[in-house]
Amino acid sequence: MYETRVLSGMRPTGSLHLGHYHGVLRNWVRLQTEYPCLFFVADWHALTTDYENPGEVQKNCWDMVVDWLAAGVDPSQATLFIQSQIAEHAELHLLLSMMAPLGWLERVPTYKDQQEKLTDRDLSTYGFLGYPLLQSADILVYRAKYVPVGEDQVPHVEFTREVARRFNHLYGREEGFEDKAKAAAKKMGTKKARLINGLRTTFLEQGDAEALKRAQALVDGQQNLSRGDRERLYGWLEGGGKKILVEPEVLLTEAPKLTGLDGQKMSKSYGNTIALREEPEVVARKIRTMPTDPARVKRGDPGNPEKCPVWPLHQVYSDAARRDWVVKGCTTAGIGCLDCKQPVIEAINAELAPMRERAQAYLDDPTLVKNIVADGCEKARKLAAETMRDVREAMGLSYP
Ligand code: TRP
Ligand code: SF4
Repeated sequence: MYETRVLSGMRPTGSLHLGHYHGVLRNWVRLQTEYPCLFFVADWHALTTDYENPGEVQKNCWDMVVDWLAAGVDPSQATLFIQSQIAEHAELHLLLSMMAPLGWLERVPTYKDQQEKLTDRDLSTYGFLGYPLLQSADILVYRAKYVPVGEDQVPHVEFTREVARRFNHLYGREEGFEDKAKAAAKKMGTKKARLINGLRTTFLEQGDAEALKRAQALVDGQQNLSRGDRERLYGWLEGGGKKILVEPEVLLTEAPKLTGLDGQKMSKSYGNTIALREEPEVVARKIRTMPTDPARVKRGDPGNPEKCPVWPLHQVYSDAARRDWVVKGCTTAGIGCLDCKQPVIEAINAELAPMRERAQAYLDDPTLVKNIVADGCEKARKLAAETMRDVREAMGLSYP
């Protein structure tokens, strides 16, 4: 019934690195050609943990958007915006907070984990507990169908599904729902009404998902239905009330784990990153000074790629022939470590060159970035407003 929207957000952590590129941005760049995509800076989420230093957040925000653009996120295809500029997220968050059980929030695994991990600050706050609910509002306010995120965010999307279901259950009921749904079906003509009635029964009695899909397709193809009728029919087909909010699904990002310069996960807090806008000389220096298999003390000592942090980089950047060359050369001491690293340096610089170039245009003229985000905010606000109209109506909040 609703278009298949993709939505994802990132907290503004400042300049991004190769780990973000391979883990997230490459995926966004692909998705933007396949679906209507919304990508946003989750600056409010940053404040849930960094509320003592709000000044950093805004600068990080612009740096991050430049990196998105540099990586190939295309504002003519995807909508880019900043969470705090769309007040509807906050309104939906507030309304959802009325019905979100405390126990659900306390049980989200990131809640206790993060509180225990980030011991340098006080996270026994209302906002931090509400982190996943704010994320639910981000997703639900656009009726997003797919949420591309990494493993760590899966519980938040699961939580969002539960919140959506609870909302639809509480507020999707209306006086005479069944009759209204049937009347809506009649508007499709007697023949089609009978057909979708049969498909509904097949779905409800036998769980036949194909039947549900066919019925939904018939509703989608029907021009003369109002939005309210469509929502009713959609809910009725599944045996429930009106579907006001859409239950989202995770699009798990399958990405090679890009290790950092020291072999640990690439992360800013470990200081082992290569930034997306890193200068070529810096890339070369960082790779050349990377540690290697500790057993290779002298050039003549054979090594083992499995024990070397350079090896995972070859797995991302080198083809089978080059990887063969590494394994043979390393284990027989046929190549030196600098020989081994050179193709990695070249591959990374080749990957980063177009990004640096794209970024430069935005750094030369920052108003370009501001305009892109202003456009994106405007588009996002329109979509969010549509959902909020339905939400307010469902909750008895649309005053004349
Ligand atoms: N919590 C996410 C993260 O830390 C960021 C985020 C906020 C998000 N709102 C979202 C991701 C909505 C997807 C959808 O990465
Ligand atoms: Fe690592 Fe390559 Fe040196 Fe082997 S030759 S230890 S894989 S850098």
